[in-house]
Amino acid sequence: MNNTNQPILTVKDLKITFTTQDAEVQAVKGVNFTINPGECVGIVGESGSGKSQTFMAAMGLLAKNGRAEGEIIFQNHNLLELSVEQLNHVRGKSMSMIFQDPLTSLTPHLTVLEQMSEVVALHMQLSKSDTRRLCTQWLDRVRIAEAGRRLNQYPHELSGGMRQRVMIAMSMLCNPTLLIADEQSGVAEH
Ligand SMILES: Nc1ncnc2c1ncn2[C@@H]1O[C@H](COP(=O)(O)OP(=O)(O)O)[C@@H](O)[C@H]1O
Ligand SMILES: [Mg+2]
Repeated sequence: MNNTNQPILTVKDLKITFTTQDAEVQAVKGVNFTINPGECVGIVGESGSGKSQTFMAAMGLLAKNGRAEGEIIFQNHNLLELSVEQLNHVRGKSMSMIFQDPLTSLTPHLTVLEQMSEVVALHMQLSKSDTRRLCTQWLDRVRIAEAGRRLNQYPHELSGGMRQRVMIAMSMLCNPTLLIADEQSGVAEH
């Protein structure tokens, strides 16, 4: 919860550069925006204009050949300056991201419950039965029918729409302050 009038996220003069064999690619060239508590902000731009990379930088997930300059302020910290350990406290807990491709974001050899439990175990202290209860609740909330049965299934046993819903449920498990949804136009479809 953010009880102050401070923005939840402030992006200041963000620049993202990728070094490739041929050249330096400037994917983001000085972006500025803020997201305030309670706001739902849409970022619109042509394909390849740097929308996804902006938030990959916030999550500390830029590819190895990428670097970010500027500031991404979240809860009084510049995310670009945090160590992996510090980022791990934030990611999935107070800030989570539903990635563009939910099919490759789930681990194929773990059941829905196993992967959801990993997130819970990282950020909360819950018993096994409470973890299962929380996961079931979130599957219900994203309208996955027969949540109890689905928990024991593997990603390949679910439809694309269902996998996307599982990703949404996973991103909500810890009640994040900021939820980043990358290209979720297909959410309503099964
Ligand atoms: N690892 C990388 N190496 C080089 N260029 C990259 C890499 N990752 C992304 N890019 C480039 O960054 C730009 C922005 O990509 P992206 O943020 O995915 O665009 P959007 O989400 O707006 O469609 C694109 O031109 C893309 O090709
Ligand atoms: Mg994108």
